Amino acid sequence: MEIESYLPKDLYKGQSVFVTGGGSGINLGVAKIFARLGADVAICGRTQEKLESAAEEIREFGGKALPIVADVRSLKALDDAMARTNAEMSPLNTIVAGAAGNFMVRAEELSENGFKTVIDIDLNGSFNASRAAFKYLKPTRGNIMFISAPQAFVPTAFQVHAASAKAGIEIMMRNLALEWGKHGIRANTIVPGLIEGTVGLSRTNDEESMSHQKVAIPLGRFGLTQDIGHAAAFLASPLAEFITGTTLIVDGGLCTTGRILMDHGFEGEFPSSSSRK
Ligand code: COA
Repeated sequence: MEIESYLPKDLYKGQSVFVTGGGSGINLGVAKIFARLGADVAICGRTQEKLESAAEEIREFGGKALPIVADVRSLKALDDAMARTNAEMSPLNTIVAGAAGNFMVRAEELSENGFKTVIDIDLNGSFNASRAAFKYLKPTRGNIMFISAPQAFVPTAFQVHAASAKAGIEIMMRNLALEWGKHGIRANTIVPGLIEGTVGLSRTNDEESMSHQKVAIPLGRFGLTQDIGHAAAFLASPLAEFITGTTLIVDGGLCTTGRILMDHGFEGEFPSSSSRK
């Protein structure tokens, strides 16, 4: 889908978007959508090479792209990164806090440091990004968007660390929406479902489980990174100016609860035991 056919190509012209973890996956997909709509885009991550090549891809849409090496676990690193963005790019309008780390592990085998590492990257890193961005978002009455995950709501095997972090992000988002609403700053989360071609999908699923998962998506396909980008472009836009403190699920209906009945052919007769006597 050509987003430029639906939203003005210069919607975000004169504004910057800062994306943590923007070197790949969903976050890079989101960064590209903002670039297509005219934004200057800063991306941060841990690996210079990966960021440089992502920035090249972003620049293909014509705007500025600034790759900055910064580990979200350090508030100082993000303070410096935001200051640089402010000095070199347009005023900051939106941050997308998407940096995350994950792996599958049984809870009883997860080390103290393993749990802490994921909390540090996902939850603390998202706070650090918001905290560092605050002074720039205040004058622009900007936006904070967190990339959350279904694990925040549904207990998911071998995901106690990521689930705890993402659940923390959900309530943090609501607190920030509450405290910073008076400055016109909006805070929301986007919950991507199963997004094709991402480390998040391949790290938590093998081929067999992916084919089972696909069947469970009512809209019949995996998501694309641009599906998340479209949601982000909407949330950052004036179309969403009264939307804050909310969670936008973008998963093709995967979170619906009726799937088990559907999978068992529950489309015709009701079971006789359920009929009225
Ligand atoms: N199973 C169990 N424990 C694991 C693990 C796994 N697969 N991977 C890492 N850990 C543990 C390590 O053993 C270590 O704990 P320890 O000191 O008790 O041994 C701790 O987590 C930190 O690991 P380390 O590799 O030193 O941390 P890191 O900061 O370099 O990277 C991640 C941690 C989670 C980010 C790493 O897995 C990673 O780089 N992942 C790729 C990005 C990613 O996960 N993207 C998915 C987004 S959804």
